[in-house]
Amino acid sequence: MTRFPPLSSETLAGLRHLLGETGVLTDSVSLGAYGVDETEEVDFRPAAVALPETTEQVAAVLQLAAQTGIPVTPRGGGTGLSGGALPVFGGLSLSLERLNRIRFLDQTNLMIEVEAGLITGDLKRAVEEKGLFYPPDPASHDSCQIGGNIAEDAAGPRSCKYGTTRNWVLGLEAVLPDGTVIRTGGATRKNVAGYNLTQLLVGSEGTLAVVTAALLKLINLPRFRLTLAAPFSTLQGAAQAVSRLFVAGVDPASCELMEARALDLVSSLTAIPEQLVDAAALLLLELDGDDDQALLERAARASEVFDTLEEVEVIVAQEAGDQRRLWEIREKIAIAVREYSVYKEADTVVPRSELANLVEKARQVASDRQLEAVCYGHAGDGNLHVNLLRGDLDEATWKENRDAAEAELFDWVAGVGGSVTGEHGIGWSQRRYLPLVAQPAAMKVMRGLKAAFDPRGILNPGKIFTDR
Ligand code: MLT
Ligand code: ZN
Repeated sequence: MTRFPPLSSETLAGLRHLLGETGVLTDSVSLGAYGVDETEEVDFRPAAVALPETTEQVAAVLQLAAQTGIPVTPRGGGTGLSGGALPVFGGLSLSLERLNRIRFLDQTNLMIEVEAGLITGDLKRAVEEKGLFYPPDPASHDSCQIGGNIAEDAAGPRSCKYGTTRNWVLGLEAVLPDGTVIRTGGATRKNVAGYNLTQLLVGSEGTLAVVTAALLKLINLPRFRLTLAAPFSTLQGAAQAVSRLFVAGVDPASCELMEARALDLVSSLTAIPEQLVDAAALLLLELDGDDDQALLERAARASEVFDTLEEVEVIVAQEAGDQRRLWEIREKIAIAVREYSVYKEADTVVPRSELANLVEKARQVASDRQLEAVCYGHAGDGNLHVNLLRGDLDEATWKENRDAAEAELFDWVAGVGGSVTGEHGIGWSQRRYLPLVAQPAAMKVMRGLKAAFDPRGILNPGKIFTDR
């Protein structure tokens, strides 16, 4: 494992000189807070937290780190689920939270430039006030930040129709590990000049450069939305319906699946309508567009698809309040699981046609090891969050069974052409599974890219690869 020098008092004084007294935190409450994110069971404290307010300050911090060899771990809203923002080798946690301005909104070219620390929900609301739409909607939208979304290529229910964060990034401002500021991409809808550094940095989990600002694409806000809740009496039926919806051209903006146990757990946090409580599985769909009649026709088409599998009594919610209540069921599941048991989440993604088999496999790997599996997620993307619950197991048995169950599940996922993370990233907690889906030659190219950007390996070490 890599060794790094400790943070010396001279380097700390240098940081305070660059950022001021309030720009550097070393008290134990702050170090504790910046040592965790929303990943289960991991905690790595930094030696100090740096809070720059400008790109120039980010560059100066990285220059100082490069001179002294101190590791730097960039951090957004701390909502990550693979430990990507945790300083596993100590050193500096570089939080972008104070770079949170909207630099400009261009209503002629439909684009916006924002700083990395802007809360995603604030960005969405700011453009919606102008009738515009930034579609990516991670579950944590009210606390995650655009920079973190870019680092992880975050998604959410609407990626089903609109793609993930990367589909909305036109250009970036970023700081290389030696402190050099670069700009990639730009204000055009097309651009094939040279390697696409913008898209290389998106999803690179803060290991190649620190993104400080992004130029994002916008579209007009759809005028109408419908939410459909379809309770199925079998999980197989719900899972099979997913691929059929797309073949039939229903084109949902979101298509989420929750199995019965997920509904059962979330019922402690929100009301489940009577028609849905006994479902073996629930599909929740959002349809959007500018023609309300066309939406109703697509809703009817969705019902026809369901009826090819079984008779389903679909709830169609047209009022915003009714829609909100239905979506709350889905949004609160992760919290309900966390409150119920110690758990480990596997962020599986498979071709849609494998969804039913995925849930069966999840149940089998769990029950073989006295665990419970709770599956829910973005079925339209083939992306299910499989939560393995500890239940009554003692610590040692839990860890052994959890790891064995997860490894068997990911082996199976890779075997059916899926991947070991759909939207949460490799980060720290999924590193051992990357070789299941990246062949040795591809791993070598990834290592070469890391070395080209960060020859001293000081930026977010310990992530993506197991041996750094
Ligand atoms: C979600 O879809 O709710 C999020 O990805 C969070 C999670 O599954 O834990
Ligand atoms: Zn998710």
